[in-house]
Amino acid sequence: MPRKILVTSALPYANGSIHLGHLVEYIQTDIWVRFQKMRGNTCHYVCADDTHGTPIMLRAEKEGVTPEQLIARVWQEHFDDFSAFHVNFDNYGSTNSAENKESAQSIYRTLKANGLIEVRSIEQYFDPVKNMFLPDRFIKGECPKCHAKDQYGDNCEVCGAAYAPTDLIEPFSAVSGAKPELRNSDHYFFKLSDPRCQNFLREWTRGGSLQPEAANKMQEWLGAEGENKLTDWDISRDAPYFGFEIPDAPGKYFYVWLDAPVGYMGSFKQLCAKTGIAFDDYWKQGSDAELYHFIGKDILYFHALFWPAMLQHAGFRTPTKLFAHGFLTVNGEKMSKSRGTFITARSYVDHIKNTEYLRYYYAAKLNGTMEDIDLNLEDFVAKVNSDLIGKYINIASRCAGFISKKFDGKLGDCDAAASSEFRSAFNDNEIARCFEERDFARALREIMRLADMANQYIAEKAPWAMAKQEGKEAELHVVCSTALTLFRDLTLYLKPVLPELAAQVESFLNIAPITWSGAWQPLPAGHTINTYQHLATRLDPKLIEAMVAANQESLKPMTDSHSETRHAEHQQRQIEPIAETINIDDFGKIDLRVARIVNAEHVETANKLLKLTLDIGEEKPRTAFAGIKSAYDPEKLKGRMTVMVANLAPRKMKFGLSEGMVLAASGSEPGLFILSPDDGAQPGMRIK
Ligand code: MSP
Ligand code: ZN
Repeated sequence: MPRKILVTSALPYANGSIHLGHLVEYIQTDIWVRFQKMRGNTCHYVCADDTHGTPIMLRAEKEGVTPEQLIARVWQEHFDDFSAFHVNFDNYGSTNSAENKESAQSIYRTLKANGLIEVRSIEQYFDPVKNMFLPDRFIKGECPKCHAKDQYGDNCEVCGAAYAPTDLIEPFSAVSGAKPELRNSDHYFFKLSDPRCQNFLREWTRGGSLQPEAANKMQEWLGAEGENKLTDWDISRDAPYFGFEIPDAPGKYFYVWLDAPVGYMGSFKQLCAKTGIAFDDYWKQGSDAELYHFIGKDILYFHALFWPAMLQHAGFRTPTKLFAHGFLTVNGEKMSKSRGTFITARSYVDHIKNTEYLRYYYAAKLNGTMEDIDLNLEDFVAKVNSDLIGKYINIASRCAGFISKKFDGKLGDCDAAASSEFRSAFNDNEIARCFEERDFARALREIMRLADMANQYIAEKAPWAMAKQEGKEAELHVVCSTALTLFRDLTLYLKPVLPELAAQVESFLNIAPITWSGAWQPLPAGHTINTYQHLATRLDPKLIEAMVAANQESLKPMTDSHSETRHAEHQQRQIEPIAETINIDDFGKIDLRVARIVNAEHVETANKLLKLTLDIGEEKPRTAFAGIKSAYDPEKLKGRMTVMVANLAPRKMKFGLSEGMVLAASGSEPGLFILSPDDGAQPGMRIK
């Protein structure tokens, strides 16, 4: 019996471009879905743009368009990017659809009828200039712990402290710069603290739907038995907000994360309308269909707690499994605009063109766990050229020509002994198991082992030598036909990863689309193939260099409308309000000195900090921790001159004592810039 499977990828936000990090998820999901379809299962793959919320509303306003216009434009960009990478959704929708609105509102109504919605008044910062309540991320101010300026309302990027926006010192609105006021407003809560939710989630998270790492995380979040750590979830936002209105609650909108997962249903509903699939078969409680969500580890909380609790208490089935993956690093580090490794899907296409190279590389790295995966650009080139071109494509390019030239394009008999030897050395159930378990890395290792065997066979037989010898024609015919049959089987196993290349191979071999069940049957003698035209070329490392150079932020002209940042406030080109006036004596209290950075190094457990050793002409150099890791490679800082506050009270940090502060400039655009004195300044000189 074929399985009935519904698969989703997380819905990308409609306020930014698709980048290589996103593609880890969409490529991974697409490979899995293609595999399921090739196995003869019924499998539907849906996704959509995630279109609601404050950042999208503000960005549209800034661009002078309506949110609907903005999301329509981004939808097209996303759709084109996914198509270029052969990510083949059965439906790609939008959370701003009639279907989604209907589902979100009806789920809400059922939760309410079940006594799981509560209204409470909460106090929140309000921007009196913009006339809107401010999400935490749109409030900035001084960190209450380390006094770093310009920190977000929820946590400090310098010292890592987490706090409430009301703890910020001298808060200001990141939207208008105004001083926010505290105001009360009624908010709607989903009662996750209700024993029904807690008990259900405790059971569900242990029920095998989560990877072991994820299940452990959930136990942490849920707390020990009887501890009830879950608090109610605030699902409403006040107007102005771009989203769906809450039924019978004028001026109140669903928080974007309420209608986002419901978007999986909304998109599937559209597929049902197009194809006649019955929605309830897949979503009603007790459905025998399987439901899988591919997600990044950063959004586990929403998918493993809120979403199943919503589904369960609104009368729907819950997910069969969540497949969470790790984050992409490039060359071992977080994607970075200054290093040119924050690469958009578009930019990859513009420079490299062949998107299956990336599909192949990601597949070779993905193993179904939540570990981060690294795109090492040198290794990427090496792997594509040695495996894909050197091992796989090479088989066809070495044998096909003889068939055309010597045998009029017709295949001969296969070498039965060799074929059965390969067959017994290779286990395609094992390949299927690896694909099923999303251990694509292992599947590819096995497939490349078969490619090695095929290449060894060709090397031993040396068809190029046979072609020059008289009387070897028949043998040459058999060897090339056998190699091309092997090439067809390799193509079969690679097809989920390389769908376009597989289609080219099918047309070159002049055969019907390859299916799993057709494996290991020799291509029939007398079958005519088409003339070989090269299927793929080696990846030129120069293309990678050019792509990285083009993405290097400092080389790019400022185009703030295309900034890929997640935080819309970064897109506001705006200076922070000037601080309160002080007199010269106030200023004189600050002792600024020229410092030489004698050493700079990473701090193991701090993701924002560098440890600096600073010489200001004293007997012993000082140690200072600076939140500049995102912007500077420690190696490049060594020996540089900069400016430090030398009379700041020393501060004990988790990592050691900080005996001063290095000054750096930052604004609403990304970037962090330390200061340098002019040439000639010596360590210890005072700055007045
Ligand atoms: N809109 C939410 C998801 C809502 S699902 C109901 C969202 N969008 S996102 O655009 O930020 O991310 C979409 C998916 O891409 C998420 O699963 C996220 O984890 C994944 N990734 C985004 N950046 C990534 C990397 N750098 N590396 C790997 N995956 C990444 O979250
Ligand atoms: Zn701080």
